[in-house]
Amino acid sequence: MDLLLLEKSLIASFIAIIVAIAISKLRGKRFKLPPGPFPIPIFGNWLQVGDDLNHRNLTDYARKFGEIFLLRMGQRNLVVVSSPDLAKEVLHTQGVEFGSRTRNVVFDIFTGKGQDMVFTVYGEHWRKMRRIMTVPFFTNKVVQQYRFGWEDEITKVVEDVRKMPEAATNGIVLRKRLQLMMYNNMYRIMFDRRFESEEDPLFLKLKALNGERSRLAQSFDYNYGDFIPILRPLLRGYLKICKEVKERRLQLFKDYFLDERKRLTSTTTPSNAGLKCAIDHIIDAQQKGEINEDNVLYIVENINVAAIETTLWSIEWGIAELVNNPKIQQRLREELDANLGPGVPITEPDTYKLPYLQAVIKETLRLRMAIPLLVPHMNLNDAKLNGFDIPAESKILVNAWWLANNPEHWKNPEEFRPERFLEEESKVEANGNDFRYLPFGVGRRSCPGIILALPILGITLGRLVQNFELLPPPGQEKLDTTEKGGQFSLHILKHSTIVAKPRVF
Ligand code: HEM
Repeated sequence: MDLLLLEKSLIASFIAIIVAIAISKLRGKRFKLPPGPFPIPIFGNWLQVGDDLNHRNLTDYARKFGEIFLLRMGQRNLVVVSSPDLAKEVLHTQGVEFGSRTRNVVFDIFTGKGQDMVFTVYGEHWRKMRRIMTVPFFTNKVVQQYRFGWEDEITKVVEDVRKMPEAATNGIVLRKRLQLMMYNNMYRIMFDRRFESEEDPLFLKLKALNGERSRLAQSFDYNYGDFIPILRPLLRGYLKICKEVKERRLQLFKDYFLDERKRLTSTTTPSNAGLKCAIDHIIDAQQKGEINEDNVLYIVENINVAAIETTLWSIEWGIAELVNNPKIQQRLREELDANLGPGVPITEPDTYKLPYLQAVIKETLRLRMAIPLLVPHMNLNDAKLNGFDIPAESKILVNAWWLANNPEHWKNPEEFRPERFLEEESKVEANGNDFRYLPFGVGRRSCPGIILALPILGITLGRLVQNFELLPPPGQEKLDTTEKGGQFSLHILKHSTIVAKPRVF
């Protein structure tokens, strides 16, 4: 045995002993920990449970260990709660105690160790960032300022798809065009900018870097180095790529968007200045000394990840369910035709007057929750939950998907049936008024983007169903709705080819 290997084995054995002692101490005297599989030294439960801790696997553990259980993932504690009462406790009653976010080696890189808003711990910095972001992004005034832009974007989608002959025959990957739409919906708000086409070089660069960022952050490939610090040197290559992507991305935001906007506003006079866009408000906060330029760039980073893909995944799931449930699609079309008149394009104010459309959106978000475990929460200090001790800095997952898909609480939850939200669940809203249904979370760390996401979903799905009959491609009876989960994301595995037969009015 060479000397280096001997040294490594000794260090590993030493750590194993320390960890075993620490665990037995935690489990034994002082702490009454939640139930869970018995952990082994160093690895904890990691070798037993594996990497893919998706909502379905965690549901299986909840069936075995109960509504609260603990997994030791190497050095990290992972607590999973799976009942409406415990979700209420974590997100509402003890919202401050459990209102922080866990960090991991990769998110630390992408957020500059929590200089952003989404992944920062609960405290002064988070409060300030959330306050600064509210006026430019998360009010009804923003919706009223930008809804015409969103309506214009989906009009352009419909025009483009109508011009594609293959859309009506073999079908197209509709998602690709909708992705451009979602970028435009959000970049109009952020920078008063839009991209002309899917081939726009800047759009392609941005899309590629955002895609890389999501892939690297949501992957399970880096778990080993995150869970077991002694293995972290093996992760050096992965983390180097993360750092490069992060640098290139922030530089792109700065050079092509932030500096560009600053240049533009510095040359406009009050008489020819248009309405302020979101970044103007954020730059104001920077100029007042409330935040620094890095914080500004991390706000742009957060909107790119939190707003665009999540809404796009939900649109994609909604379309897939409408294709696979033609009767539901037809009922929605009839509601649109009856209320607005055939061919009269749906606008944002209409969306609230269409109960079946609202029910389709709610049902999509229930069955196909884009963030099924919410964004992981964390307790900074030792805490108590359901009579158990939760050691400080545990990662807390709320299995929101299971809360909304548990047959003890929902009638035939595996069925895509929007009618449930008009019948037995007619009082349930997406804003967290019922702890069985939390697609946007609830409480302090809940999604502030709900105010934008719901009307965008309504306008987009509404216009598509008004203008097209959406079908699976020839020779296929149904779309493949296999899921692909990440660290906390859920999207469709294969972007579907959809036949969009134009309606004639
Ligand atoms: C259908 C679309 C969307 C879904 C399903 C969704 C869902 C969520 C969920 C589940 C959370 C975490 C809640 C928690 O941890 O308790 C979250 C957080 C967040 N979302 Fe969304 N979201 C969507 C769209 C948006 C949009 C459009 C924006 C911005 C324009 C946005 C901005 C944010 C931000 C900033 C946070 C972090 C809040 C915090 O940590 O204080 N989201 N979202």
